[in-house]
Amino acid sequence: MIQLCRCRDYEDISQRAAELLTAQLTWKKDSTLGLATGGSPVGLYRKLRERFAEGLVDFSEVKTVNLDEYRGLAPENPQSYRYFMEENLFRHVNIHPENTYVPNGLEKDSETACRDYDAVIQRLGGIDLQLLGIGRNGHIGFNEPSDQFSSGTHCVKLSENTIEANQRFFERREEVPTEAYTMGCGAILRARRILLLASGRDKAEAVHAMLYGPITPQLPASILQLHENVLVLADEEALGQ
Ligand code: F6R
Repeated sequence: MIQLCRCRDYEDISQRAAELLTAQLTWKKDSTLGLATGGSPVGLYRKLRERFAEGLVDFSEVKTVNLDEYRGLAPENPQSYRYFMEENLFRHVNIHPENTYVPNGLEKDSETACRDYDAVIQRLGGIDLQLLGIGRNGHIGFNEPSDQFSSGTHCVKLSENTIEANQRFFERREEVPTEAYTMGCGAILRARRILLLASGRDKAEAVHAMLYGPITPQLPASILQLHENVLVLADEEALGQ
């Protein structure tokens, strides 16, 4: 079941998401969090850093698994998702670096990279709370619209739409990676709780289709309708209001 929470704006989304995550970590200190990158969670991560500085949240027992990573990018590349996580959250809080996992973008053999990552998720006992953003085309993680839903971690060719959306982070279009490793929809659905953040007018169509449209791999986020415990925090623009 998807529960929808209407938020005023991005700030309101970030505030509520931070409160929810803090509650999760109070309730279960050793939670495994599935984390996302991109613009949607930046405000949330800022609030978590602030809360940590105020002594309101403790990451000492937390484990994290990120949704995805570009294939071919090293962790120290500022465009890599590992780098993003270090900058936005990990290096500011008391999380143990060995408890943070991101797919290995430098592993050339995609079978190895994907198998290893699925093994990590399994070893951690699955994901307690999975954080998601949503792509303009309805993707979650890097699960792009396709003919079937994916299950485990896999290597994807990014759609033109996604490459275009990512271009703002790179100087030249040729530098935008064209492939990524991503957790599959199956792994996302197995998370015990899901929190999806959606802000801005360009998400309105995808959010509407996710909530009210048919469940179809052409709109990967629609599979969340099958999950028992999804909370969507969306602002007025993302709800087309
Ligand atoms: C990021 C990810 C993507 C983003 C989505 C929305 O790890 O997996 O699915 O959540 O592309 O991106 P933003 O938040 O930049 O609009």
